[in-house]
Amino acid sequence: PADPSFSRRLIDWQRRCGRHQLPWQSTRDAYRVWLSEIMLQQTQVSTVIPYFARFIERFPTVDALARVPVESVLENWSGLGYYARARNLHRCAQTVVERYDGQFPQDPEVLASLPGIGRSTAAAIAVFAFGVRAAILDGNVKRVFARHFGIAGFPGAPAIERSLWALAESLLPGDGIEAYTQGLMDLGATLCVRSTPDCAACPLNASCRALAQGRVDELPEARPR
Ligand code: ADE
Repeated sequence: PADPSFSRRLIDWQRRCGRHQLPWQSTRDAYRVWLSEIMLQQTQVSTVIPYFARFIERFPTVDALARVPVESVLENWSGLGYYARARNLHRCAQTVVERYDGQFPQDPEVLASLPGIGRSTAAAIAVFAFGVRAAILDGNVKRVFARHFGIAGFPGAPAIERSLWALAESLLPGDGIEAYTQGLMDLGATLCVRSTPDCAACPLNASCRALAQGRVDELPEARPR
């Protein structure tokens, strides 16, 4: 831990070097934010971009998506894989229309009760659509934390995951939650990648335990087998 803080360095780096031109970043429309986060769950950005554009064109609002038959959603999802995501997407749209009058809820806990939205996705939607101060913890963020804080063990193990969530909550900045959250995602996707990470360019390298201990290649640990 060095000064300035973890969050300060990440926010400054995101504003200078992070991704700013992604199609879902130019909006606070919760529908677009939600749609992008669901598509990005198991699919990389470059694949998602054309699908996202097509969905917005064909289904411009959550009401439009809720009204079409699920077969139409599946047809347009074709190629993205993980078709349970598309079925949940449609069910979620119908729930938002029927139970929330077409308005996505802002509370991450309420968002996490909707089909297809887990705790981390709920937080990402609340941050990017509503500016709510909430913690994300996806696979990329687990890798960043495991390395930076030198956390051994498989990050998917329940006890380790609980401590990672506590850590994620404790690191949240008072201001700039959007840049902070996007910065965590961008760092994990562009510098702190699984193999041959670019530690020299990392804004957090001065305080990275794994880097200091020469253990970047060993963390995070794999699922035990
Ligand atoms: N992966 C998950 N959410 C993302 C986002 N908002 N931007 C880029 N990559 C992501």
